[in-house]
Amino acid sequence: MSGGAQNLVELRQLSKRFESRRGLFGKPRAMTAVDDVTLGIPKGRVTGVVGESGCGKSTLARLVLRLLEASSGEVVFDGMPLGQLSGGALRKLRRRMQMVFQDPYSAIDPRYNMADALLEPHRIQGIRLSRADARTVVGELLGMVGLGPQIAASFPHQLSGGQRQRIGIARALALKPDFLVLDEPTASLDVSIQAQIIALLEQLRSELGLTYLFISHDLGLVRYFCDRIVVMYLGRVVEVLPQPHAAPRHHYTRALLDSNFVPDPKRRRTIRRLTGEIPSAFDLPPGCAFAARCPRADATCRAIRPDLTQTADGHAAACHHPL
Ligand SMILES: Nc1ncnc2c1ncn2[C@@H]1O[C@H](COP(=O)(O)OP(=O)(O)OP(=O)(O)O)[C@@H](O)[C@H]1O
Ligand code: SF4
Ligand SMILES: [Mg+2]
Repeated sequence: MSGGAQNLVELRQLSKRFESRRGLFGKPRAMTAVDDVTLGIPKGRVTGVVGESGCGKSTLARLVLRLLEASSGEVVFDGMPLGQLSGGALRKLRRRMQMVFQDPYSAIDPRYNMADALLEPHRIQGIRLSRADARTVVGELLGMVGLGPQIAASFPHQLSGGQRQRIGIARALALKPDFLVLDEPTASLDVSIQAQIIALLEQLRSELGLTYLFISHDLGLVRYFCDRIVVMYLGRVVEVLPQPHAAPRHHYTRALLDSNFVPDPKRRRTIRRLTGEIPSAFDLPPGCAFAARCPRADATCRAIRPDLTQTADGHAAACHHPL
């Protein structure tokens, strides 16, 4: 594990606001799905992002890859601010950063066989391959994700969920990227298949020297797989754990951990110990967004928003009364 503190990707005060209106004639209102996120993603390592449904994980993923335009802030990839690149330069850089989705089925055209699906990234980039080269590429990609060459002729509906996710990963690897954003890549799979996919991802990361941003609502999985954990709550980073097993300092992370002993991995984990309403993202309170659910909340918490402050060991928490 080399590279020290070198970051492949840096997010600087990244925010995304969405406008919507209630009904046809309702007043437009704005909500901040990602709020002022500053974060380094170290090269060659796995950075985990965890938080409940709707906290902004997928929006963050799409901002990082610039599949979505930020409202403010910037993404710097390998020293290059993405916002300042021309269309052509950005397209070229896109080869180096790819996404793996939760449901590869929806990402693959049902009329494509797997060879076509695996060659699609080349087509999109305008890279022409001879028939022989195309066959070699497909064979290599299938081999990398542990699938046999006979899969090339299959259609998506003929594959299992695990096989489809392997195709999703192979397709993300087609243009030899160095950075993958994995947005809940195992959330739709059975637990035994999930373990196989995680093992495959770990093997690919070490063999190819990849950098991952791994998104999940499952803190147990993130602690198992990631080197570093970023906890999000209502669009903001509330804690960064420098090691996966560092003791949490933010009350939300503590509650997430306490709720993680639910043995059924297929169940979406709800936070049993937590009570209180999650405030609406359209109408955030002035202080700590977690105050309504926090056992330690006081008047300061309700009035003043805590900044994310980092200690010397790289541990950061946004809390007036850290644990
Ligand atoms: N295109 C959009 N227009 C308006 N609101 C959006 C849009 N995309 C996301 N949102 C809102 O932004 C918030 C964050 O959504 P996001 O999908 O990033 O959450 P998430 O953490 O990935 O959730 P999940 O765990 O369910 O996947 C949600 O309140 C969502 O409704
Ligand atoms: S700032 Fe206050 S309300 Fe927010 S997590 Fe810390 S103690 Fe709880
Ligand atoms: Mg999501």
